Amino acid sequence: MEARSNGLFITFEGLDGSGKSTQMKLAEDYLKSKGLAVVSTLEPGGTPIGEKIRDLLLDRDNFEMCPKAEVFLFLASRAQIVYQVIRPALNQNKIVLCDRFFDSSIAYQGIARGLGPEKILELSLWATEGLVPHLTFLLSVGTPQSEARKKARGEGQDRLEAQEDDFKQQVYKGYLQLARQFKDRFVVIDGEKSVSQVFQLVKEKIDELVG
Ligand code: TYD
Repeated sequence: MEARSNGLFITFEGLDGSGKSTQMKLAEDYLKSKGLAVVSTLEPGGTPIGEKIRDLLLDRDNFEMCPKAEVFLFLASRAQIVYQVIRPALNQNKIVLCDRFFDSSIAYQGIARGLGPEKILELSLWATEGLVPHLTFLLSVGTPQSEARKKARGEGQDRLEAQEDDFKQQVYKGYLQLARQFKDRFVVIDGEKSVSQVFQLVKEKIDELVG
């Protein structure tokens, strides 16, 4: 199932407001301070085509979007970013950090939307030509904490964030299920700890991999 390249591919997952983007930025700075070549990117988006797809996905006017159309848009964005950014960087032995990857589709569309985690994993592997992260950090915060952080940042809600709490609860459970299923690549960190406490754990794991 896994077709790995030479570089290192690390993904950050969690609910909106889990702190994953902050941790990814800290990880990027840390790796660069060690003189390593790092490419940071995000999903959906990360390429000019992906950015257009992202707009379609997040636009609240697109309330009629059916679940399968949603899946294929995420997969299209992912196929493009793997082809255009991630694979070439890995082939050059770089470290690639990605804010969300296919575990998001499995948790949000496969589990919370009920399309089936196995189906979404299968389609994702097809879209990515079998690319699987070497390491996935799951920043685990429950829905109340995630909502509170987003409110504190004064963020508006896009189409996906406007889902009801039950949906987000399903996503949260879905992530924990994935972490159990793929324990050799998942590292679950309690995202309710402080930014520096969380980063300490992220750093320890990264050090194990890059020395
Ligand atoms: P974004 O603004 O990038 O949120 P965040 O900063 O939390 O990553 O919006 C992406 C939204 O899309 C987010 O609510 C999660 C959702 N999503 C899926 O439902 N499936 C996916 O495969 C991906 C990558 C994201």
